Amino acid sequence: MKINSAEFVISNSDVAKCPKDKLPEYAFIGRSNVGKSSLINMLVGRKSLAKTSGRPGKTQLINHFIINKSWFLVDLPGYGYARVSKSAKKVFQKFITSYFAKRTQLVSAFVLVDCRHEPQKIDLEFMQWLGENQIPFSIIFTKADKLPKTKLPIQIEEYIKKMLEFWEEMPNYFITSSSSGLGKDDVLNYIGEINDQLKNS
Ligand code: GTP
Ligand code: MG
Repeated sequence: MKINSAEFVISNSDVAKCPKDKLPEYAFIGRSNVGKSSLINMLVGRKSLAKTSGRPGKTQLINHFIINKSWFLVDLPGYGYARVSKSAKKVFQKFITSYFAKRTQLVSAFVLVDCRHEPQKIDLEFMQWLGENQIPFSIIFTKADKLPKTKLPIQIEEYIKKMLEFWEEMPNYFITSSSSGLGKDDVLNYIGEINDQLKNS
């Protein structure tokens, strides 16, 4: 899929105030610093449409971006960020879960995990929660450029093995790098295909 336009629409902490348009929407979620905002920029070919930072906790609101004037990409705050206060964490968790529970426009979530790390409890639990709430998702392994080429498949295999302890099948997954652009076409074509199906249904 070709990206012709990508524009910021609105940021807020209240799912009720998200855009009312009935356009298909795809949300990026995962631990702080995993690369959600960077991946959005990489996908749409814009350096700083979504704000990124080397320090975790950069994205603090629900951010809507409209793509090709016909669908939304949503950048969310990370979960599991240790340095925000407990009360702030609760507020975050609450609006993130309420976003997923209430946003009927959401077609699919992308759960981002850093390909260098072992499967993390918080990600596994979040995917479990998505499953229980029947929210479709794919996994995106990020920062592939940071692993030696030989190590990458081993890490992915380990992750799949862990997932199969909880899931009958490995969910759909992508391997990406926001620095090299790896996975860009795969993710965009996947979204494009779903958008086409929705248009024809
Ligand atoms: P929060 O908004 O804090 O939840 O973080 P985020 O998940 O949006 O992460 P963000 O995109 O801000 O990236 C965090 C850091 O990781 C930044 O320093 C990015 O430059 C770096 N980063 C993100 N993706 C990649 C990648 O694919 N490769 C490399 N090498 N660095 C990356
Ligand atoms: Mg971010």
